Amino acid sequence: MEITSKESSWKKEEEEEEEAKIQIYKYIFGFAEAAVIKCAIELQIADAIESHGSPMTLSQLSSALNCSPSLLFRILRFLVHRGIFKQQTTTESPIAYSHTPLSRMLTTMAPLLLLENSPTMVAPWHNLSAKVKADAAGHSNLFEAAHGKDIWSYAAANPAFNTLFNEGLGCNARVVTLPAILGSCRDMFNGVGSLVDVGGGNGTTLSLLVKACPWMKGINFDLPNVVNTSQEYEGVQHVGGSMFDYVPKADAAFFMWILHAWDDEECIKILKNCKEAIPENTGKVIIVDTVMDEKEENKMLLDIRLTLDIMLMTRFRKGRERTGEEWANLLKKAGFSRCIITPIVGVVPSIIQAFSS
Ligand SMILES: C[S@@+](CC[C@H](N)C(=O)[O-])C[C@H]1O[C@@H](n2cnc3c(N)ncnc32)[C@H](O)[C@@H]1O
Repeated sequence: MEITSKESSWKKEEEEEEEAKIQIYKYIFGFAEAAVIKCAIELQIADAIESHGSPMTLSQLSSALNCSPSLLFRILRFLVHRGIFKQQTTTESPIAYSHTPLSRMLTTMAPLLLLENSPTMVAPWHNLSAKVKADAAGHSNLFEAAHGKDIWSYAAANPAFNTLFNEGLGCNARVVTLPAILGSCRDMFNGVGSLVDVGGGNGTTLSLLVKACPWMKGINFDLPNVVNTSQEYEGVQHVGGSMFDYVPKADAAFFMWILHAWDDEECIKILKNCKEAIPENTGKVIIVDTVMDEKEENKMLLDIRLTLDIMLMTRFRKGRERTGEEWANLLKKAGFSRCIITPIVGVVPSIIQAFSS
């Protein structure tokens, strides 16, 4: 019997509807993955396997971590299903747990996972619709509505959160972003004798940059509560202040994950301060931030960029991810005559270099 194209399109619709009835549960329990990963970090499963040095049985793991074997088994089963840890057979046991590349990240990226899944950071997400609905001008700040202060004042008043935030961003720089930048674009630091990292956090980024480019001196510029609690690094001078007042002088200025938190007017103010800080003819600004491109072929990267854009909605008054065209317009308005945008292979942000001449 011949199947008409109408019948085959009905069949496809029916199949999609059946699939949707399963897919919707992914969203019903969307929070569960993050909660189980947080649990695994708090239990220190990854660290135990790492220090054991070889696959661990359930009984070895549960006694090392002082956990209920049956509950730990269920946590591990959930994680193994997602490629976080794997099960293998050893000479001692038919089932032992070992690392996968993803489970190793539960150790290296633990500070960022714990930060983003902390009750403080999650609270504003619960009010997203209020911002979208009532805030035509986009002026409200969901973080402030949840905690009574904007995120930077909150960090200044809460030392534990300040540390959690700076360590979270620091590990992201160390594990993901800096290796990628140095791997593909180290040349952009050639001839730069001094670099100011504006909003540089606890100095992790700059410490890695000056180590990789030893001809460069680093100035780590951030709010006083951040630099006053940061460790010292060779070749890095910490300076406390606000980028809205001034930027310390250097051959080049570096911004990583900064400008996406601010609207165009605020960015122009910061960038103009920056222009005054760098030499008129030879100075440059290096921005490491997201460039939004909905045609991005890597669906996972696009998904993260779209998520970051919503994250900015939950955390800042007018933060947003910008397209390449929007970055170029912004830099032009701030007085830069040209810019070069370079994607960094395999990671979320791009490099945007801006020049005055
Ligand atoms: C998202 S974090 C980025 C940290 C770092 N660049 C990184 O990527 O690891 C933003 C940083 O901007 C800093 N910041 C916020 N307002 C600032 C201001 N007015 N002046 C200087 N730094 C500021 C915060 O303290 C924080 O360290």
